Amino acid sequence: EKGGYDHYMLKEIQEQPTSLRQTLEGRIREESVSLESFPPGSFTDVSTVQFVACGTSYHAGLYGSHLLSEGGVPATTHLASEYAVYPPPIDEDTLVIAVTQSGETADTLEALRVAKEHGARTLAITNVVGSTAARESDDALLIRAGPEIGVAATKTFSSQVATLLLVANRLIEDVTGELLDGHLDRLESLRSLPSFVQTGLDTSQAPAVADQYLSDGHFFIGRGNGVPVALEAALKFKEITYEHAEGFPAGELKHGPLALVTADTPVFVVCTGRDASKLESAIREVQTRGAPVIAVAPRSMSDIIDTADETLTVPATHPDLVPILANVQLQLVAYHAAAKLDRAIDKPRNLAKSVTVE
Ligand code: F6R
Repeated sequence: EKGGYDHYMLKEIQEQPTSLRQTLEGRIREESVSLESFPPGSFTDVSTVQFVACGTSYHAGLYGSHLLSEGGVPATTHLASEYAVYPPPIDEDTLVIAVTQSGETADTLEALRVAKEHGARTLAITNVVGSTAARESDDALLIRAGPEIGVAATKTFSSQVATLLLVANRLIEDVTGELLDGHLDRLESLRSLPSFVQTGLDTSQAPAVADQYLSDGHFFIGRGNGVPVALEAALKFKEITYEHAEGFPAGELKHGPLALVTADTPVFVVCTGRDASKLESAIREVQTRGAPVIAVAPRSMSDIIDTADETLTVPATHPDLVPILANVQLQLVAYHAAAKLDRAIDKPRNLAKSVTVE
């Protein structure tokens, strides 16, 4: 059942080239994105996008709002539990996108209902056909990752992000009337994403890194579209290893968390291809305190790699796609650290795959 793997989580991590192929299948044409239910013009009435989600899906939402904002579409991401009780201003021109693997997360469903009550248009991005989120939203877009058994979300995060790349293309074009700079480049890279992920899996140094840097406290930092990856990596790490892990934007280090940094705090730095100089200064800040730095970066970022103590290299591609590749490396780090500690990887204590209570 586990296809020869010790855990579903590892099987699902390794499956990502295939699940991503399924996500993208038939959705990229020569020069444009083609989404069954969203032909060009589907979103011309939208003025603002609000993502609502929890946990890993929230991190995918953060990636989505970053992508849209860069493309000129006003977008924000909200934790569904907060949104449901303290919603931001919402009107008929607001598109509320619920990102939810299961489509059954109570907090996310509640946020969707609040959005509807305020007259927003709603879209569910989900893995489950016929789920409550899909049924209760005006539209649904499937991520098509296939069933995920491990409680820790892995392949579904990658497929959520890939789906967001597709839908962002349509949204940016419809809302701003213009295509993003380098649009064709990004589409071309997206088409090759499954094979980049395969290369990343085949050449990963994650098992050795997990072994060497296991500690009582781990930091994950990044900037821009590396922030969702830093947050997601920390969540995954704490969830299955039960060891302390924190993720945050690199610029925040000096505003507090730096006080925790010692020689026993491995710092994983997610470098997606931009922000190199800002990340270098964060690296120096922690190295001065003796902390080992593990860069997760494309080989081309040689300044970062030269400064770091260790590197998990990812294949070089469009900077918008590097977050997925970096995240795969950090999924493997979390997995191998948890395996070393002999944790209940597929069913971590206190957690459920689908959280149906508020
Ligand atoms: C973490 C994890 C959870 C879920 C969250 C939302 O590995 O799986 O944080 O992401 O409970 O679940 P969905 O996406 O089903 O709404």
